[in-house]
Amino acid sequence: MPSLRNFICFLSVLLATACTTAPHGAFADENGDPARGRTYAQDHCAACHAVNGGPSDQSPNLDAPTFREVANTPGFTRMALGAWLRSTHQQMPDFIVETGHIDDVYVYLETLRAPRSPAPQSAPH
Ligand code: HEC
Repeated sequence: MPSLRNFICFLSVLLATACTTAPHGAFADENGDPARGRTYAQDHCAACHAVNGGPSDQSPNLDAPTFREVANTPGFTRMALGAWLRSTHQQMPDFIVETGHIDDVYVYLETLRAPRSPAPQSAPH
């Protein structure tokens, strides 16, 4: 039977891992791969969202904005996406999306953004 002490040890190992895999600079722009992000979105998000960015796309779930709309929402940033995917929602499932996937999805979303309305970049830490 694992003792409480072992358990606490185990927890701190987990925490240490979380800290080293998500360092402060994890939001640097070179992170993420749009092709991977697209695949991830098709696998995990396309049941509800139109993810391919066509101008006349319609989301399968009419309450869910298309990814093109999301990408062109003023103020939509990597931070905002990360916060959204880590918070609880009423209608959308509460995902646990690892930082790497968030970066991938974010850089993919950037490719759907209309050139004339760039969203502000998140401020560097
Ligand atoms: C089961 C359906 C469903 C799935 C799967 C889903 N979403 Fe959503 N999503 C929604 C709905 C519905 C909304 C809008 C209503 C709301 O605010 O909850 C939404 C809203 C959003 C928003 C907009 C937030 C805003 O207010 O602008 C983002 C960004 C988003 N989803 C990203 C994702 C990503 C990324 C995935 C895949 C990892 C995903 N969603 C998967 C249903 C879904």
